[in-house]
Amino acid sequence: MNLAILTSGGDAPGMNAAIRAFVRRAIAEGHQVRGIERGFEGLVHGVQRPLAVASVANILMTGGTILHTSRFPVFRDPPMRSQALAHLDAWGVQGLLVLGGNGSLAGAYELSQLGVSVVAIPTSIDNDIPGTEYSLGFDTAVNNITGSMDKIRDTASAHERIFVVEVMGNHCGELAIAAGLAGGAEAIMIPEIATDYQAIVERLAQTHARGKKHSFIVAAEGAGSAQEIADHISDLTGHEVKWVVLGHTQRGGPPSAHDRIMAALWAEEALDALVSRHVGQMVGLYHGALTEVPLSDVVQGIHQPNLRWMTLAEMLAR
Ligand code: F6P
Repeated sequence: MNLAILTSGGDAPGMNAAIRAFVRRAIAEGHQVRGIERGFEGLVHGVQRPLAVASVANILMTGGTILHTSRFPVFRDPPMRSQALAHLDAWGVQGLLVLGGNGSLAGAYELSQLGVSVVAIPTSIDNDIPGTEYSLGFDTAVNNITGSMDKIRDTASAHERIFVVEVMGNHCGELAIAAGLAGGAEAIMIPEIATDYQAIVERLAQTHARGKKHSFIVAAEGAGSAQEIADHISDLTGHEVKWVVLGHTQRGGPPSAHDRIMAALWAEEALDALVSRHVGQMVGLYHGALTEVPLSDVVQGIHQPNLRWMTLAEMLAR
């Protein structure tokens, strides 16, 4: 088969591992793969190159994406999609693999509605994609945040300070919840739930009373700015509160072993789906098992954050 692959939206650690796995498995089965540059933008402008076994050497352990990526909201415009379709037809592409988050999955769905044989792999450090328990890159990002918190803890403990750590997540609190649980935060703030400042202040007082004078509040970017949160907590507690925005450090660096393994498993699943014409699907994870979910369900779905982990994290930090 004549296959194509693109990476779209925010890069996620594990994208390269997935490209490598898809290309190598496809070639081993006698297919050809072309890599489209810069996601849907490259598809619209017809920028692509053939991928060989050697093209994907030494990328398993790298973050980012060798195909580059872009945010390309104008892909919503029908003329853009017609141009994309024209290129896919001209190249004779029989199956397209899209790696991306919610916006990119919407683009993949639109293409599938136009008759393109598309399969998608969910990739986003936010883990905010409906229809799957996991999106590629999340584990690495949680590890990155936890590593940063471990470093901040040393100085926080030395000065007996409260720190607000702002993490990514877009409109979703999943990254903050997992990092808060893994990093031992006293409080987690997420956009899905209104913040109860009084409860946070009481919890901080509780930990201070038992002799622990440094504290972490992990705030999802969608829950407000770290600086404003820090100022407010400082006003309420009378303590100095430092804040840090981890920013893009969360999204870079080598993918974790978990992300590399998920990349390999999903790339294999996606290839099988394309070859067997089980298309218009996103591969996913449900109750720990690989699944395929119709893209139509993904684009209409709502992701629910893991509130059980949030309650547990806050209880354990008392
Ligand atoms: O969607 C992934 C994500 O990392 C979000 O958590 C964040 O809000 C956004 O991308 C940042 O995007 P950009 O790098 O384009 O500013």
